[in-house]
Amino acid sequence: MFLILLESDGLTIITGCSHRGILNIVKTAIDITGINTIKGLIGGFHLFRNSEDEITEIAEKINSSNVEHIITGHCTGLNGLFLLKNICKSKITPIKAGLTLTLNQP
Ligand SMILES: [Fe+2]
Repeated sequence: MFLILLESDGLTIITGCSHRGILNIVKTAIDITGINTIKGLIGGFHLFRNSEDEITEIAEKINSSNVEHIITGHCTGLNGLFLLKNICKSKITPIKAGLTLTLNQP
């Protein structure tokens, strides 16, 4: 299950636990809306059981897509977060207690 915030300049995707795969979620959101600019990708990516090779492949696909900000934590796992950060660099913000997000700013 995931939520799409649709704005004139792109999508923000908020996932729960991404059990169907974060790449499947991104593809489905693009297919549903016809928009491939993703301003924000937020949620748990459920990568804590994936191998480093699998996580690296996922991170490279996310990084090469039109995703501006990635905010993730929980079941992404520390290894997943580390590998995503290595590839996606400043696009990544870890979810942590007390994090406040302001969406839909002009
Ligand atoms: Fe999960």
